Amino acid sequence: MKSDGGPRNYRKDTLLAHLGRHPEGQHGAVNPPVYHASTILSSNMAEWEKKRDPKTRFDVVRYGLLGTPTTFALEEALAAIEGGYRAMLMSSGLAAITAPLQACLKCGDHLLMVDSAYGPARNFCERVLTRCGIATTYYDPLIGDGIAKLMRPNTKVVYVESPGSLTFEVQDVPTIAAAAHEAGAKVLMDNTWASPYLFPSFARGVDVSIHAATKYIVGHSDVILGAVITTEEMYLKVRTMAADLGHCAAPDDAYYALRGLRTMGVRLERHGQNALAVARWLQRRPEVSRVLYPALPEDPGHALWKRDFLGATGLFGVVLKPAPKEAVYAMIDALDLFGIGSSWGGFESLILPTNPERGRTATRWNAEGPTLRLHIGLEDPQDLIEDLERGFHRLRIAMAA
Ligand SMILES: Cc1ncc(COP(=O)(O)O)c(C=O)c1O
Repeated sequence: MKSDGGPRNYRKDTLLAHLGRHPEGQHGAVNPPVYHASTILSSNMAEWEKKRDPKTRFDVVRYGLLGTPTTFALEEALAAIEGGYRAMLMSSGLAAITAPLQACLKCGDHLLMVDSAYGPARNFCERVLTRCGIATTYYDPLIGDGIAKLMRPNTKVVYVESPGSLTFEVQDVPTIAAAAHEAGAKVLMDNTWASPYLFPSFARGVDVSIHAATKYIVGHSDVILGAVITTEEMYLKVRTMAADLGHCAAPDDAYYALRGLRTMGVRLERHGQNALAVARWLQRRPEVSRVLYPALPEDPGHALWKRDFLGATGLFGVVLKPAPKEAVYAMIDALDLFGIGSSWGGFESLILPTNPERGRTATRWNAEGPTLRLHIGLEDPQDLIEDLERGFHRLRIAMAA
């Protein structure tokens, strides 16, 4: 933007195209250069001293670990898109989960963690937080205002992830946040599914928003990266812990994420459209019991999703009618366009069998058949449907054998 002085309320798509770019300071080049830097030189001791002022520790370029113009550019854009105060980058989405938890919890504290959380977040509670004397209680993702009953005097964090990993329950985040704040706890949210673009977490009461930028922000399945966006109140606490732990992001990765961000709005719109088309088709299949996708009117979370989200992305679950594992594997192996692999959020479609029943403790996942997770990419949805049709054909053959 040539002038950022005026009170212009640019909309998100405009911000996606313009934020974090300062061509006037880089010979007019549209995109910012990539700073590969560890050492940052000062021209004299006065400048060296000035850069070490603790009050501006995270605002100046003084050591590669603490940020460069490349990482600052991405942070500026991410915070503005989600409506947060400031952002910080981490080496992975998982690091973006663990560092804020470490910042907000100390020995003797209690954490309320959603039962449908991303598995490795749970592992962190079990394997690391327990060793620090921090207790975790898992809660039903559909608990709503019932969360108030689980709050203890030492509950410092309520962790939400909506929709839930693998099972896609939509949480009533504003209600949970109100109860948490009433009891003096902070709300940390894994907002990766919606990205900063489709769930304005701070307007819904969240204090710290966590993103696996690896997914839709980067969008091309070629970078592992995390981002944390916070309110003003939480910024220094989380940023300081991240620095104390030595978290940072590689310059090329930050650049790729900034580049991905420019097209995130149009990509997400297409992911959502394609996913809805495939999900609707799947709903009508005789092999399918139900589709776990809040954008479908039949989904139990649809009303909340419509109230709180600005759209849907390309990731959802499918519960099949009862079928042996071998038949499901034969179906997946027959697919041409769906890759078999971890992660999601790239331009391409993926499929995996999942086991949501494993690891749950507060709720039971009693599905009537095997569960799959699909990521719907940017391919023509009709080709994806025809591919799945071939897969179901193989499923039926395997079941008849
Ligand atoms: C919901 C969610 N959060 C966080 C992560 C972790 O991201 P990363 O793979 O960048 O560590 C993932 C990865 O699959 C995820 O699905």
